[in-house]
Amino acid sequence: MKAPTYQWQPTTAEIAAAAGISPDQVERFDHNTSPFPTEWAPTAAGPSLSSLNEYPGADYRTLRIAAAELNGLEPEQIVPGAGADELILLCGRAFIDRGDNAVAATPTYPLYEISTLQAGGVFQSVPATSPDFAYPSDQMIRAARDADLVWVCTPSNPIGNVVTADTVEALIAATDGLVVVDAAYAEFSTGDWTERVETHHNLIVLRTLSKAFGLAGARVGYAMGHPDLIADLDGVRPPGSISSVSVALACAALGASTSMEKTVATTVAARNDLASGLQSVGLRVLTSETNFLLCEVGPNAHDIAQQLMGVGLVARKFPADGPLRDYLRFTVRTPEAHKRLIAELERCLG
Ligand SMILES: Cc1ncc(COP(=O)(O)O)c(C=O)c1O
Repeated sequence: MKAPTYQWQPTTAEIAAAAGISPDQVERFDHNTSPFPTEWAPTAAGPSLSSLNEYPGADYRTLRIAAAELNGLEPEQIVPGAGADELILLCGRAFIDRGDNAVAATPTYPLYEISTLQAGGVFQSVPATSPDFAYPSDQMIRAARDADLVWVCTPSNPIGNVVTADTVEALIAATDGLVVVDAAYAEFSTGDWTERVETHHNLIVLRTLSKAFGLAGARVGYAMGHPDLIADLDGVRPPGSISSVSVALACAALGASTSMEKTVATTVAARNDLASGLQSVGLRVLTSETNFLLCEVGPNAHDIAQQLMGVGLVARKFPADGPLRDYLRFTVRTPEAHKRLIAELERCLG
């Protein structure tokens, strides 16, 4: 089966041109990125800028050490990638053979299916069918018994909810294959899978610098796992997909986790304010442990998204033939951006 292609979102410049506004008036509620500009980055990147004539050290030792220190692991338990996205694709390349079965609860992050199919595997979807899209634990544990790889997104994108620790433990115990926990939004939640890579040798945990660390443009993530699994991932990794500038920025960010924790606290408080605003205009807001909120808007969700786009407010909409056709997803941004969004929604819905 041919792998579906990833659907790119329109660029900020394209949206601004279509709306007849300047790019700085466009508010990206669709990317789950941080609203805080990286004013610290020029200083952190500075020294790396004068040696760009050379390749970055292909083993990315400094980045492994920085991630290992933050997580209380050894550098041999870490492999860096150009974002968690690259690591999802590398997991497919390293661990899925032709005809292998990989399973995930859906709706979920689309790259798991793409990675599985690109590797020649078979993707099995286990739909979450409750009104809140609660994780279908029993069905997933049953499916895990025959799976070569189990993709787990917790906290989940696009829903925002978490898979309980008991369920993840049960998935790990149920399968003879590998469990990949994509924890891209872990910092916004309470669950943490890091220490379990010490005890479970069929577990890989993925992290990213794109969300809580606010470095989406630098493209850095890392995988944690048993050194044998990490060696397998390293074996299929391109030698230099992370630039020297990105390495410098990522090491600075990983070394400043207190500052990350402050922005996470601000984001979580702002998430509660945004949820109240969205509820005040009549939307059903699902519980979230991430930096975004999924809302039930109704059958006119796509129309509303279009109207918002027309004034430079970009919501994430979902395929018209899928379970989230009546929903929109909004990233937590600044109080000013939230005010603009709620006022515009009031106008569209009123
Ligand atoms: C669940 C999940 N995994 C991975 C990614 C990609 O992260 P990165 O920017 O590190 O490639 C995203 C980005 O939205 C995501 O939501």
